[in-house]
Amino acid sequence: MSSDIDTKTILKDLTLEEKIGQLQQLASPFYSAKARGEITGPLSELGITQEAIWQSGSVLGVNSAEEASEIQRKYIEKSRHKIPLLFMADIIHGYRTIFPIPLAIGSSWNPENAKCCGEVSGKEAALSGIHVTFAPMVDLVRDPRWGRVMESTGEDPYLNSIFAEAFVEGFQGDMTDPYNIIACVKHFAAYGAGEAGREYNTVDMSDRHLREYYLPAYKAAIEAGVKMVMTSFNTVHGVPASGSSYLMRDILREEWGFDGVVISDWGAIGEMIPHGVAANSEEVAQKAIEAGVDIEMMTSHYVLSLKQLVEEGKVSESLIDEAVLRVLNLKKELGLFENPYRAIDQSKAERAYVCNEHRKAVREVASESMVLLKNEQVLPLNKEQKIAIIGPLGDRNDILGPWSWKGRKEETVTLKEGIAHKVGETRVTFAKGCGIIGDDQLGFEEAKQVALAADVVILALGEASNMSGEGGSRAFITLPGIQEDLAKEILALGKPTVVVLFNGRPLEITRLSQIAPAILEAWFPGTEGGNAIADVLYGDVNPVGRLPISFPYTVGQIPVYYNCYNTGRPKLSETEYMRYVSHFLDSPNKPLYPFGYGLGYTTFEYTDFQLSATSMKRIETLVATVKVKNTGSVAGTETVQFYIRDLVGSTVRPLKELKGYKQVTLIPEEEVEVTLEITEEMLKFHNMKCEFVAEAGRFEAMVGTNSESLEVIEFELV
Ligand code: GLC
Repeated sequence: MSSDIDTKTILKDLTLEEKIGQLQQLASPFYSAKARGEITGPLSELGITQEAIWQSGSVLGVNSAEEASEIQRKYIEKSRHKIPLLFMADIIHGYRTIFPIPLAIGSSWNPENAKCCGEVSGKEAALSGIHVTFAPMVDLVRDPRWGRVMESTGEDPYLNSIFAEAFVEGFQGDMTDPYNIIACVKHFAAYGAGEAGREYNTVDMSDRHLREYYLPAYKAAIEAGVKMVMTSFNTVHGVPASGSSYLMRDILREEWGFDGVVISDWGAIGEMIPHGVAANSEEVAQKAIEAGVDIEMMTSHYVLSLKQLVEEGKVSESLIDEAVLRVLNLKKELGLFENPYRAIDQSKAERAYVCNEHRKAVREVASESMVLLKNEQVLPLNKEQKIAIIGPLGDRNDILGPWSWKGRKEETVTLKEGIAHKVGETRVTFAKGCGIIGDDQLGFEEAKQVALAADVVILALGEASNMSGEGGSRAFITLPGIQEDLAKEILALGKPTVVVLFNGRPLEITRLSQIAPAILEAWFPGTEGGNAIADVLYGDVNPVGRLPISFPYTVGQIPVYYNCYNTGRPKLSETEYMRYVSHFLDSPNKPLYPFGYGLGYTTFEYTDFQLSATSMKRIETLVATVKVKNTGSVAGTETVQFYIRDLVGSTVRPLKELKGYKQVTLIPEEEVEVTLEITEEMLKFHNMKCEFVAEAGRFEAMVGTNSESLEVIEFELV
């Protein structure tokens, strides 16, 4: 879509005010009385003029194709150089047809699902006038108390990198298709590491740890060609990201060669004042522009202070020029100078929203994104059984997650509807039993009666969408309200029962896991959620999901993650008591369900794991092979996971690191040989000097069905 517009010539002819205007981004209500806008942060009093508003370079959260067209038309009429507006929004996992939340998509371990999400969402968004999406969010998360864990793909840098690349490719494609939209990787950097999982909290870690765990996925997005980066709210090395030239220039542009646009998160530039690294508007504007932040979102320090800073010689106009040129080039890349309306088409958009093709896509992705955590002969269900759905999530259409923005609950298939579509309404009864929150047990008796009259019970439990997402941190991550009490009452009836969880984070479900014979983690499954869950419960889809993040045994363990260090006093036994080791007196060290864990309706046997040699030179590769056989009675997909451990390093090294995996679909009795090439690159890590190196010595190669159940072979790098 690029054009031969000469943006440098345009830049030369802009006044300083016009240049600074291109660096301002405001929400759509500033441009259209009808606009409701997507308000995802504090609406501070901006104190800027109407002229400045109509000189801004981009708009956040425009609501529809018609609104975008109207604002663009009015804007261009006023623009001296007819520079078009950029329209940006949070299309995180769907525009109107909503995919499962990213944590669910990550649970599928299938990057094609992320790509599909980007393509379908991008098309609906482009038709609706959106040019840029503020996605993918690739923050690594080890703390499920944090509400935005739902927006991530979990705790592993390798898996997060794979999904970062896939989302970018899905949204952007090769930017030649009018339905391709610009992706914006966020939040740079390490927003997911906030202390205690408390929203917007302090992040502080060594540079080595930052590079080893938290940076890889952003880098993967850059290498996949992402054209925009969003700063994070938090500090890194004691400096808020929006004022950190270490992050935005040294790493992002110098080390990684990123030449796209950097945008601040909502108000993050102004928040350097409460952070305590700036005293006023001039200081935050100077810090941010010197750090390399191009666009200021929803605060106006650039507009209010940059001109004066330039005139006083405190800020070089060249810094502004380079930022403006990047913004103009993004508009050029989208072909907006030739066609400011690009792919806008309200009628086509209306036909695309929740169309059958898109519904089919989200249903398939959702069914692959669920994780079967337990199943003691309850699943799959059969279509003759009478089903009682019990629980506050059973008929609830609030299963789109907290970032579904344009998604409509009334277009969403509830669990009750999905089961009825599968087996007919006459076989389905429902009782809410209790609320998601609150302590009213009045519904328990009815629920027990409804359950007793059925052959099988589905307990539909979980969180409301707003209990996760931005601003949605929870210190207690058990099921809210009295849902666990309801579950105990229903489970005590002795009926075959499956718990279906709707949640935006790993929950503390240890007690429930001890009494429920079957548990399906459905996350927030999106527009086709009910149908997708029914597909899995009835075996039309054999569950393939694997956890991309650990489920803690208790919130007191957090952070608990698979790729941890051994410590000097590792706990060697979960049964033999030893006081002076790294342990808790009142909890195991291991999570309830580990990274990579998930069950299916068939079983797989691993045999004949071997390496092509027991030592390798740096220029060589070792080939790990293992045979995997479907030893069950139905076809299924196994995610064969390969891990590496560096037994001795110049710094401590994790007990294991995911370095590859392969999903194999096998019919009963079918056996395949799965291989993984081990290269020197896989063995590299950041040493004390943050050099990315592989060190000679002993390693372990591991393979298995999750991060706990592994076979191990030692080898050496010489
Ligand atoms: C929010 C979020 C960010 C989002 C932005 C625009 O505060 O932190 O992820 O893209 O504002 O809505």
